[in-house]
Amino acid sequence: MTARLIDGTAAAKKHRAELAVQIAAHKITPGLAVVLVGEDPASQVYVRNKSKAAEEVGMKSWTYVLPTTTTQQQLLNKVAELNNDPTVHGVLVQLPLPKQIDQQAVIAAINPAKDVDGFHPINIGRLSSGLPSLVPCTPQGCMILLREALGDLAGRKAIVLGRSNIVGKPLAQLLLQADCTVTMAHSKTRNLADECRAADIVVAAIGNPEFVRGDWIKTGATVIDVGINRIADMENAGKSRLVGDVCFAEVSQHAFAITPVPGGVGPMTIACLLKNTLQAALAH
Ligand code: GUN
Repeated sequence: MTARLIDGTAAAKKHRAELAVQIAAHKITPGLAVVLVGEDPASQVYVRNKSKAAEEVGMKSWTYVLPTTTTQQQLLNKVAELNNDPTVHGVLVQLPLPKQIDQQAVIAAINPAKDVDGFHPINIGRLSSGLPSLVPCTPQGCMILLREALGDLAGRKAIVLGRSNIVGKPLAQLLLQADCTVTMAHSKTRNLADECRAADIVVAAIGNPEFVRGDWIKTGATVIDVGINRIADMENAGKSRLVGDVCFAEVSQHAFAITPVPGGVGPMTIACLLKNTLQAALAH
């Protein structure tokens, strides 16, 4: 069996085009402020892609790059300034933050109505209670791709590998709301391969390159790979390549459908960020 590819690039393009139409129709300019602290190369790329995508759909975007030595108070001051700026509808502080900064304190300082990452405890609480909220972008993107591949998800057995606040935990809530039977797996889970083999939907978000193997996957399951890992390219000395948390070559022989890396979940994360920014602007 060779799995169907779930094309995140195409899905994200369609969503961005719809957003551009909505933004033009509402005659508003949603504003997204992105704050990057430090010089992490991967974060620099993500932040650049987020602002570029925002501008392309007709939003205004601002990127603030603060030095690695920024204190917590300096970052909190920047967040307060953006909270108080009426032209800014979305505030995103790129994670991870340098170790002198308390990540949770910064997230809690963002106005929940501008929290386009959906990480604020108010938004997490609302999501868990089934109330309308700003929903974290990567899990939202995973749900769109799953629904596109499978339609109704009710009654399906889903396993989420990884229990991060950014992906695993909110995704489990969304799958539960979609009436899936959800298993949360993590580094202490016993018999992980057996747990995966029982699932109709496998989502890997653990940050471990090619961790999920082909024989862990039930024939006909759908696999969403959230991982983005850079590894040495054995066929090109001195070069590197991007792989997910799933061994694509093996898993695609068992699955019904699978997301590639790159070109799967990544582009949908950005499309959902723009969706959240428009939602925040319209609620303003
Ligand atoms: N770092 C990795 N993913 C994300 C994300 O979705 N939002 C933010 N702010 N930082 C991240």
